[in-house]
Amino acid sequence: MDRIRLVGGNPLNGEIVISGAKNAALPLMIASLLTDEPLVLSNVPRLADVKQLERILENHGVDIAVHGRRRGESDGGGQRMTFHAADIVDTTAPYDLVSKMRASFWVIGPLLARCHEARVSLPGGCAIGTRPVDLFLFGLKELGAEIDIDDGYVVAKAPKGGLVGARIVFPKVSVGATHTLLMAATLANGTTMIENAAQEPEITNVAECLVAMGAKISGIGTRTLTIEGVEKLHGANVEVIPDRIETGTFAMAAAMTGGDVLLRGARPEHLQAALDILAKTGVDLTPEADGVRVRRNGNGILPVDIETQPFPGFPTDLQAQFMALMTMSQGTSHVRETIFENRYMHVAELARFGADIAVDGQVATIRGKDKLKGAQVMATDLRASVSLVIAGLAAKGETVVNRIYHLDRGFERLEDKLSRCGAEIERLAG
Ligand code: EPZ
Repeated sequence: MDRIRLVGGNPLNGEIVISGAKNAALPLMIASLLTDEPLVLSNVPRLADVKQLERILENHGVDIAVHGRRRGESDGGGQRMTFHAADIVDTTAPYDLVSKMRASFWVIGPLLARCHEARVSLPGGCAIGTRPVDLFLFGLKELGAEIDIDDGYVVAKAPKGGLVGARIVFPKVSVGATHTLLMAATLANGTTMIENAAQEPEITNVAECLVAMGAKISGIGTRTLTIEGVEKLHGANVEVIPDRIETGTFAMAAAMTGGDVLLRGARPEHLQAALDILAKTGVDLTPEADGVRVRRNGNGILPVDIETQPFPGFPTDLQAQFMALMTMSQGTSHVRETIFENRYMHVAELARFGADIAVDGQVATIRGKDKLKGAQVMATDLRASVSLVIAGLAAKGETVVNRIYHLDRGFERLEDKLSRCGAEIERLAG
């Protein structure tokens, strides 16, 4: 298994080009199931999760093509890909494919809407919490679907003539359930209202894609989405938004190492809550024409308390990275994780660097240290892994991060991007 070796202590200086957002690319790819015409996506990141979803879509009969570089495009930029679901040959998403990535469960929405049936493996547990699918099933039933659980599969059938528009009031905000019900409702008969919908920028990216495909959606970017079902959707050309979690991660890495980095292509409005918190820690943030510049020159890191919340609040996907930053703050800070019940797997690993963190239920208390010391650590999930890389960049001496396949799921060319900014970092094969 590959590992990452890094030697901490160098401030990050330079420029990092932000990749396309994994969590937008995945549902956009899934949206291709809604039409028999080609959906062309640009700025698709090269990630293990994208590859895995390609396998799942191909199993349903989607033809996928990756296009070559065009004039004016930089090398290493996002991919342009066509997804063409001319004929859906199989409405089953099998366990061995779905169990590897939770987002693949979301195919249930478009399959049910277009083919009136779907058989999708339950996604199973995950390192950050139990992550049930009750909200998906609730929403699909509201649209008239009949749902059975059989042998670990969700077997869903639409009424004769297809799904029927309805008012869906989610008792809890869920990104995945919002994506899925939004997609399902585009082809339902009549009007659907989704209340208490997630408002993440990735939802907006998908909703705008669906509109480009001919869907009728209003309230995009708000808590209530109204979808007037149409008979058919068509092809479109859509760009994946820049990854706000990658942006926040590198911003925290620059803050932690005391560097000066331009995050090119970043959209500050997609992570304003996190940037506001970073500013409170004493980091200079300057919006630039095409991104945001993050700088901490010489000053210490101030302790700040955070609580994770659905968008527009502080994202749970930046909680581990922020905690890494706080391990070197000049005081005591608190982190409250409200989205996932078990998203503190990085705490024990950060302790290997000498960090002082105590967890009590949802709340972690972090007492900042002057310095961290490099260590052997193990990645446990995607965002936890990158928090260990950030800590290692600021720690004295050598760090080895084991089990980095998690990183490859969600960070494109991580070592390359960091080493171009002066980090001493390399991948050790095997
Ligand atoms: C998405 O996961 C993201 N994944 C996650 O990013 C992110 O952490 C999460 O949203 C929250 O922002 C993708 O976009 C691919 P949820 P999702 O449904 O949709 C509970 C990463 O590292 N819930 O919004 O699975 C759930 O258990 C990943 O890139 C139910 O109770 O998250 C959680 O407590 C990790 N019943 C809360 O809702 C359900 O049916 C929010 O989860 C569904 C969810």
